[in-house]
Amino acid sequence: MSEHKLIELQQVGRVFRDGGVEVTALRDATFSLKKGEFVSLMGKSGSGKTTLLNILSTLDAATSGTYLFEEKDITDLQEKDRLRYRREKIAVIYQQFNLIPELTVKENIQLPFVIANKKADLEEIRQLAQWLGLSERLDFFPAKLSGGEKQRVAIARALLMKPALLLADEPTGNLDSANAKTVIELLSDCARQRGQTILMVTHDAEAAGFADRQLYISDGVVGE
Ligand SMILES: Nc1ncnc2c1ncn2[C@@H]1O[C@H](COP(=O)(O)OP(=O)(O)O)[C@@H](O)[C@H]1O
Ligand SMILES: [Mg+2]
Repeated sequence: MSEHKLIELQQVGRVFRDGGVEVTALRDATFSLKKGEFVSLMGKSGSGKTTLLNILSTLDAATSGTYLFEEKDITDLQEKDRLRYRREKIAVIYQQFNLIPELTVKENIQLPFVIANKKADLEEIRQLAQWLGLSERLDFFPAKLSGGEKQRVAIARALLMKPALLLADEPTGNLDSANAKTVIELLSDCARQRGQTILMVTHDAEAAGFADRQLYISDGVVGE
């Protein structure tokens, strides 16, 4: 395998068993992502996008196939080891932003560090806030922010731990087109300037066009 690959999936599948009923949410995901690559993933509702992202983020595990991360097989890791990936290497941003309303912007950005019982670098937060246009918003509560600002806070929170992999599930789904464009450009800069590998799920063909490469998922099948 090439040293430039961050992740590689080989025939990854996910079957949910709900009582006697089986649902195949993901049939065959076979692709890899290079370091520093910005890739979009498009597919209809119900095609398996969120299921795939949950496996990539280690929130969920495949029921078939192989998931390699930095050349290590992490398909069947125990929960405590998967948690380490989520804390150190993989961050996710969501359509709904998932900010904590009772915490300020600065506290929201620091939250993963607080949960991991680590100290965040305040200078790093200051720089990220400046880059994301949030310097004047650090002491605000989320309710006072626009949608675009909320997503930028979520990006700051995701980037603070310098994840190797940034996953985005419809990150512009709740934004107007101007804010969506800003967020996409920031994600693109994350890959180009900061070397982050990004996989972005989107319904928006224009947003997908900003990525280096497009992947398509249909009926639980995605390949390149
Ligand atoms: N926990 C689950 N239990 C049973 N079926 C599920 C579960 N999660 C997802 N599915 C099913 O798997 C398919 C893919 O879902 P999902 O990955 O959420 O698609 P998308 O994000 O592309 O809309 C859908 O048919 C969905 O109903
Ligand atoms: Mg989804």
